[in-house]
Amino acid sequence: MSDAYLAAIAVRRTNYALTPKSSVPDEKLEAIIKACVLTCPTSFNTQSSRAVLVIGAENTKLWNMISESALKGVEGEHRAAKQKKLTAYGGGYGSVMFFEDQAVIDSIAVKIPSLAEHFPVWSTNATGMLQHAVWTSFSLEGLGANLQHNGAYSDELVADIRKTFGLPSTWISTAIMPFGVPAAPPAEKSFGPIEPRFMVFKA
Ligand SMILES: Cc1cc2nc3c(=O)[nH]c(=O)nc-3n(C[C@H](O)[C@H](O)[C@H](O)COP(=O)(O)O)c2cc1C
Repeated sequence: MSDAYLAAIAVRRTNYALTPKSSVPDEKLEAIIKACVLTCPTSFNTQSSRAVLVIGAENTKLWNMISESALKGVEGEHRAAKQKKLTAYGGGYGSVMFFEDQAVIDSIAVKIPSLAEHFPVWSTNATGMLQHAVWTSFSLEGLGANLQHNGAYSDELVADIRKTFGLPSTWISTAIMPFGVPAAPPAEKSFGPIEPRFMVFKA
């Protein structure tokens, strides 16, 4: 039974060569993301994870904002190289923005003060699980995707993104995933040995 799932997670890869096309209708993209948000686990079932799908001109608007912010003060060769990458991220069919709701995290920390310091870490675990679920599901639909933090988006940029898309001020950005039908297969991936990364003890 687990073979199908394991095959699916092996298919998920980072792909930067995206086209402005989708292999599935927008309704399917929405259904996938909704299902992932609903079913992915969160610590104490706080349901702190958020996802926002942006498509077409809204996606272009998002990446124009990110590019403007990311290119501030970057000159010469570095600017051209960065611009090229940003153009590729924004050149897909859409993006999924992932957030964690700080208000939810704060409220569970108040309810369970003995664990307060752990909730921010568990919240980043939760958004990672959600990102993986969406990324894998998209791969199964023939969509390429990658995960962008752009060296962590500035607070000012995230505030602008929230304002532009009418998102609550308590939503903390955790990653942005551009996606689209791939123009080329992903780059080769090297795998180190599994031995130091996994152990089993059995009597
Ligand atoms: C937590 C996390 C953060 C990442 N951040 C970025 C990023 O900001 N930019 C990027 O291009 N890739 C990012 N990646 C993608 C990794 O570089 C990529 O997953 C890794 O090289 C393995 O390749 P694969 O995704 O094809 O398996 C991130 C991946 C993870 C899990």
